[in-house]
Amino acid sequence: MAEAEPLCPIELRPQPKTVQELAAIDGKEVPERYIHKADNNGGGALDAPFPVLDVPTVDLQLLASSSSGGEELEKLRSALSSCGCIQAINHGITSAFLDTLQEVARQFFALPSEEKKKYSREIGSIEGYGNDMILTEHQILDWTDRLYLILSPEDKRMLKFWPENPESFRRILHEYSMKLPVILEVLLKAMARSLNLEENQFLRQYGDRATMQARFNFYPICPRPDLVLGVKPHADGSAITLLLQDKEVKGLQVLKDDQWFNVPIVPQALLINVGDQLEIMTNGIFKSPVHRVLTNSEKERITLAVFCLPHPDQEIQPVEELINETNPRLYKKVKDYVSLFFQYYQQGRKPIEAALL
Ligand code: OGA
Ligand code: NI
Repeated sequence: MAEAEPLCPIELRPQPKTVQELAAIDGKEVPERYIHKADNNGGGALDAPFPVLDVPTVDLQLLASSSSGGEELEKLRSALSSCGCIQAINHGITSAFLDTLQEVARQFFALPSEEKKKYSREIGSIEGYGNDMILTEHQILDWTDRLYLILSPEDKRMLKFWPENPESFRRILHEYSMKLPVILEVLLKAMARSLNLEENQFLRQYGDRATMQARFNFYPICPRPDLVLGVKPHADGSAITLLLQDKEVKGLQVLKDDQWFNVPIVPQALLINVGDQLEIMTNGIFKSPVHRVLTNSEKERITLAVFCLPHPDQEIQPVEELINETNPRLYKKVKDYVSLFFQYYQQGRKPIEAALL
């Protein structure tokens, strides 16, 4: 496999229309390929009332200070061991900047199709603008269009996919990408300390050749939120994912104790979730949550996920100190988890099971 290639799943054929184009066609009909039957949507009715998930708010400033962080560390540990996510506040990025970032994303997706298609991804590759890949004949498709961009390492960026419209898009996204490594380091160190480990334990495995990939998700208005999902149930193949949610429109749900919960919006917070690779490093103590996205019949929704991924050559395995008689080793050593992830995902299996001993 080519070095740092973002993985090349086998795509059967391109889709003729983006979801945004489908959504613009009048009427209440949704193409068959988007419709979930009750047994494959992750369980239960999609238009049921759902309880709200209690996602702890964690102050990153407090986490960063080794002296005053005790209570915050405990909050972090308990959140990541139960629901697998936190709302991170005091992360050092101003509200004004996050508003601008959301605004340039909104402006991009509001451009005419022809303009956006200048940045279209190519068949079989992930980067660029487009919709769900058709990987299997019976796959039910996600009601979302995406703009997928490698942020780092910088020399792996493919600028031809980076919008020049709106004019400030590249600069703002670049600026955002420069702010994230600090946040990631604070998190990885605090996570280790919260488990009484030497603070570089996770950072060392995460490595200094890691990749950050941005995925802008655009969820058009959908006439049938009772039958269609924005994103089907999955766990992230990252080590950590940083999600900037839409400020007004909710839709994200997390599966906990076999029940779907709505994830609340905390304005200006970054929603941080554990990905499979961190679950492996913690030997299952931190949970990589299964999540999905509902659609909305009244409002569009835009989010920005950044996936933080160790280099494909980097070996990932449970930290020795977390294994003992009561907590036997659960996962084997894995490399290039993202490729493994896609092989399993295409077969409709839960990818982390590929790493189980
Ligand atoms: C993802 C994801 C959630 C959202 O991009 O992997 O889960 O709310 N996104 O857009
Ligand atoms: Ni996800």
